[in-house]
Amino acid sequence: MIRVLFVCLGNICRSPMAEFIMKDIVNKKGISNKFYIDSAGTSNEEEGNSIYYLAKEKLDKEGIPYTLKGARKINSSDYDKFDYIICMERVNEINIKKIINDKYNKVFRLLDFTNNPRDISDPWYTRNFNVCFDELNEGINSFLEYLGF
Ligand code: 4NP
Repeated sequence: MIRVLFVCLGNICRSPMAEFIMKDIVNKKGISNKFYIDSAGTSNEEEGNSIYYLAKEKLDKEGIPYTLKGARKINSSDYDKFDYIICMERVNEINIKKIINDKYNKVFRLLDFTNNPRDISDPWYTRNFNVCFDELNEGINSFLEYLGF
C-alpha cells in the first residue's frame, strides 16, 4: 500500500482536486487497492470547509467523483502515516517542514516529477481552474510513472 498525502495551503482547491483526480486515475487503471490517498493544508484557515465551489465545478465538468470532506491542517502524525507528502509549490514545502520533521525526505513538489519542474499555479489567485486541473493531471501521471505504474 502506497500512502499519498497531497498538501496545499487551504485544502479547499488544489490538494483536494489532486486527491480526487488521483483516486479517479488509479480507479480507472484498476490499481486503487495499491493506494491510500488523502489531502490536507498547511493552514487551518479553511478547517472543516468543503472543496471550493469552482474546484467542485471543474471536477463535475470532468466527471471526477469526490466527497464533501472538510478541510484539515497537516499534523506531525501524518508524517508516520504517509509515504509521500506531495505539495503544490515551494512555499508549501517550507511550511510543511516547519510542521513535520522530514527526516526520511518524504516531502516532494508535484511538478518535480515532470520534465518541467515548477509550482502548480494557485487558482485561488489566478481563478483559472482549467490550467490548475491540467497541471495536476500532468504531475499525477508523472508521479505514477515514477512509481512504475
Ligand atoms: P488552496 O487554495 O491552497 O489550493 O486550497 C487557497 C485557498 C484559500 C486561500 C488561498 C489559497 N486563502 O487565502 O484563503
